[in-house]
Order: sequence, then C-alpha cells, then structure tokens
Amino acid sequence: MIPDSIFAKRTERMGASAIREILKVIARPGMVSLAGGIPSPQAFPMDRIAELASTVLDNHGTAALQYGTTEGYRPLREQLALYLATLGIAAEPDEITVTSGSQGLLDNVAKVTINKGDVIAVEAPTYLGALQAFTPYEPTYVEMETDDNGVIPASVREVIETHRPKFVYLVPTFQNPTGRTIPLDRRKEIASIAGETNTLVIEDDPYGQLRYSGEFVPPIKSFAPDHVVYGGSFSKVFAPGIRLGFNVAPKALREWMIKAKQGVDLHTSSFSQALATEFLRAGMMENHLPRIIELYRPRLQAMINAMVRSFPASFTWTKPEGGMFVWAVGPDGFDATEFYPVATEQYSVAYVPGTYFFAKPGTGVATMRLNFTMSDEETLAGAVETLGGAIRAFLE
Ligand SMILES: Cc1ncc(COP(=O)(O)O)c(C=O)c1O
Repeated sequence: MIPDSIFAKRTERMGASAIREILKVIARPGMVSLAGGIPSPQAFPMDRIAELASTVLDNHGTAALQYGTTEGYRPLREQLALYLATLGIAAEPDEITVTSGSQGLLDNVAKVTINKGDVIAVEAPTYLGALQAFTPYEPTYVEMETDDNGVIPASVREVIETHRPKFVYLVPTFQNPTGRTIPLDRRKEIASIAGETNTLVIEDDPYGQLRYSGEFVPPIKSFAPDHVVYGGSFSKVFAPGIRLGFNVAPKALREWMIKAKQGVDLHTSSFSQALATEFLRAGMMENHLPRIIELYRPRLQAMINAMVRSFPASFTWTKPEGGMFVWAVGPDGFDATEFYPVATEQYSVAYVPGTYFFAKPGTGVATMRLNFTMSDEETLAGAVETLGGAIRAFLE
C-alpha cells in the first residue's frame, strides 16, 4: 500500500467527491437521468465522420499523426480565425491557441495566474468544472451576484474594486448550470468595467452556438479585446471525444499559457485538429449545427412544458434560449440534496443538486440543474412529471 504521505498537499483540494458519490446512481437500470452534462450521441455527425477522416488523410497526410506546435495546428487556426470573425472576434491565426477541450484553457489560465490566496471572481452559481480546474492552485473565491439575466454588472464592479481578483470567470451564454444568457447591454457594461479597472475576464463559451430561439448576442471579447480571454469548444457542436477547445487571449498572457501548456501535453491531438479543420472547411459548423438544434429545441420545450404542468407553484425555473440546462429554484425549506435519494431511489429520476455549483458551501440548497439533451421528448416529459409529483409529495 502506498502511504498517504506521497500525495501532494494540493490533492486535499481536489475533492468534489460528494458529487461523484451522488452521481453514481445514474447508471442504475431504469434511471432517467436529468443529471448529465453531456451532448446526445445523436448529435454527433456519424454519417460524415468516415468521409472527414478520409479527407484528413488525403489533405494532411502524416502531419495528422505527427507531433505539432504547442499553439495548435496552423490550418485549424486559419479556419478558426474565419469562424471567430463571424462572432465579431477579430483574431489572426497567430493569436489563437488550441487546447485539449475548453477545460484545457481553464487549467492553463489558472496555472499561469493564480498564486495561493489570490482572489478569483465567479458567478453564483458557476461551472463546477471551472472550480475543479482552479481550486488546486489554491485561490480564494468571491461570488458575484446573478439574476435572471446572469451576472449583475454592479456586482462585478463591486467585487473587482473590493477584492482585486486575478480574473473574473464568466459563462455568459446559456450558462452551465443555469442556462442564462447575459444580455447585450450588460456585456458592454462588463467590458467597460474590465477596461476601466484593467481586469482580466475569462469568457468561457462552449454553448453559444446551441441557440434554439432569440437573437445572437456578441461575445464580451468583441467589446474588450485586450482584457478578455475568449474560449470556445468543439465539444457541443461536433463531439466532445475529440477534446478540442480554442481560445483568443491577450498577447502577454497567451505567451505564458503556451509555455505552461508545453509542459503539460506538448500540444493537443494533431489528428483531432486536422479533423476539426476539415469539419470547418466542409462548412459543417453551418450545416451540421441545425441538426443539433432541431434535436435539442423540442427537448427543451418538452422539459419546460412538463415543468409547467407538474412542478409546484412554489418553484421557479429559467427559460433558456439555448444550451443544455434548465435551473429550478425551490422554496425556502426545500433541500435538493436531501430530496435526491428520494428522487433516485423511489422515483428513478436523477438531477444535480444545485448547491454543488456554488463556490460558497451551503448556498443554493433549494436549487437543481436539469439537463434536457440526453433523452427524447417523451422520456423527458415523463421524468419531469414524475419529478414534479415527487417534489409535491416530499414538500407535503
Ligand atoms: C461552461 C463549461 N466550460 C467548459 C466545459 C468543458 O468542455 P470541453 O473541455 O469539453 O470543451 C464545459 C463542459 O461541460 C462547460 O460546461
């Protein structure tokens, strides 16, 4: 048996075991899981993969199997520059970095910026995986207040002026876990605050393309190019298994991020990068995306309709225009963690208790994250109705 003493101190902060325990039951037969955070396999372009892979071999040959540069495969970065321009982000290929998923960006940026005790500002609630990426570097978290329109700019300013965070971490579009989107006026305001206070903002945007209704909102990066790291991902628009993310960071930061990444994985998979190059060249960001949207849009609607039919009047929930999640908020006294074993054991429906998405322990006790991408409409409607009934019985 290896002694516990071999483990670095930082492993003490790698916990999050409570959520792993909680999610174990998802695999039980008959369970309908609204807990997942993953795309539907039906969203993968299976019918095009063989053709894309063959084009990779024709067009990229051995380069697709060789070591590459840490900043990323040049042909992919050229395609990404064109794609980013469609979002309003002006970036030369040399300003773009490719990472192993957007998760790779989160660790990367944390590694080169966070000293023990530094303050990081996060939304309340925020993406759990970001907390997992940042926490080993021993930051202190300060939460920014949110409402139905995402983070409140006055709270961003207040947190920056009071705590001088190393960076502000935001998921502005179809946020994980709430599904909320920060509207245009707030984005502009946040961009001005970042500029005025000379603060770095990490804009994590893996869901932005999954819009089922409403209008495109430009990224914060487009309003404050020198203060924002914009991160995108192929996980939700192509496939998460190719592990590809990309980002545009201010120059000085980018240089350090590349040095740090070199020591971690030398570079991101060359084959995946060549595959993504062909995905973009074939116009699949435009052609394949509508299929994903058509798959998820009715699922979101089915979930919301079933919530309207079955959830108690004391509950509220978000009405996202895209993404993968709906966020439900119960009344005072409802404890979603306490209800969890009831929902899973007696009713075979799983979700994620929302408290895990808050940096401050013990907050968001009455909240739940519900995923709608993994089941068809009928299954979702049935599971949500069961859940609604179970909550009513639990609250009685
Ligand atoms: C907000 C957010 N950021 C980043 C990620 C990581 O995604 P990936 O590394 O697959 O790009 C996720 C995954 O669900 C996410 O929800």
